Amino acid sequence: MANSDNLRQEWDAIASAWIREARGRNPVRNGLLDPPMLEACGNVEGLRILDCGCGEGRFCRILAERGAVYVLGLDLCEPLIAAARELQSQREDYRVQDVQDLGFLEDETFDLAVSYLNQCDLPGFAANTGEVFRVLKKGGRFIIANLHPMRSATGKWHRGPDGEKLHVVVDEYFAEGERRAQVLREKIVTNFHRTLSTYINTFIATGFLLKGIIEPTITREQLAAYPELDNELRVPNFIIYVLQKP
Ligand SMILES: C[S@@+](CC[C@H](N)C(=O)[O-])C[C@H]1O[C@@H](n2cnc3c(N)ncnc32)[C@H](O)[C@@H]1O
Repeated sequence: MANSDNLRQEWDAIASAWIREARGRNPVRNGLLDPPMLEACGNVEGLRILDCGCGEGRFCRILAERGAVYVLGLDLCEPLIAAARELQSQREDYRVQDVQDLGFLEDETFDLAVSYLNQCDLPGFAANTGEVFRVLKKGGRFIIANLHPMRSATGKWHRGPDGEKLHVVVDEYFAEGERRAQVLREKIVTNFHRTLSTYINTFIATGFLLKGIIEPTITREQLAAYPELDNELRVPNFIIYVLQKP
């Protein structure tokens, strides 16, 4: 079982490759997830926003450019936070921090929180959910993009004799826990699989209202711009939860 030092070291080891990917073509973010994430965030003008697991800060920069008055990006990985600070505007703030403990933040101080592919990396996603609930103002929203539980279980493309993709095999869906995931083609990091009901029941038990679920796919136009996203027409790789504090 990986401990928090191991998990941090895994991200430290891939930080420079991650920054290149995040600031490059980045089809999954630019072509697939940014549009529904931004739509779920809505008008952010004047909002105070918390980004849990902000990486090198790309989504914080987008939110600040769209008019957020203050965006706080938190990440465990020092090299990623250092990279975020290099491009930081006056509306952004970055801090090396484990998002499972937000004890340094006061209650009810944010209008919106985002988690862009971070909860799947947390051994304690429930702790993060509880902490975000605490620091959100009443009526504040928490937008979470995550690996789809159907894909974080165990599943590979089953291929035909000529290597063509036939279908995805889903297995070990009810066996929650650590998985070794391939990112950036050859790099491996640990992430955590949980069932859909574990996520949703935890959000509800924390006190959140579940306002919506988005299963991102792509239009023909997006596919023309990002042909490498063709799988997204066939299987749900990602899910976005839209939560609100009553
Ligand atoms: C898949 S990346 C997503 C980064 C960024 N949100 C993006 O969309 O490009 C996951 C991020 O979570 C961070 N992370 C992992 N465990 C964390 C923890 N316990 N606390 C804070 N950040 C963590 C990693 O360092 C990494 O930057």
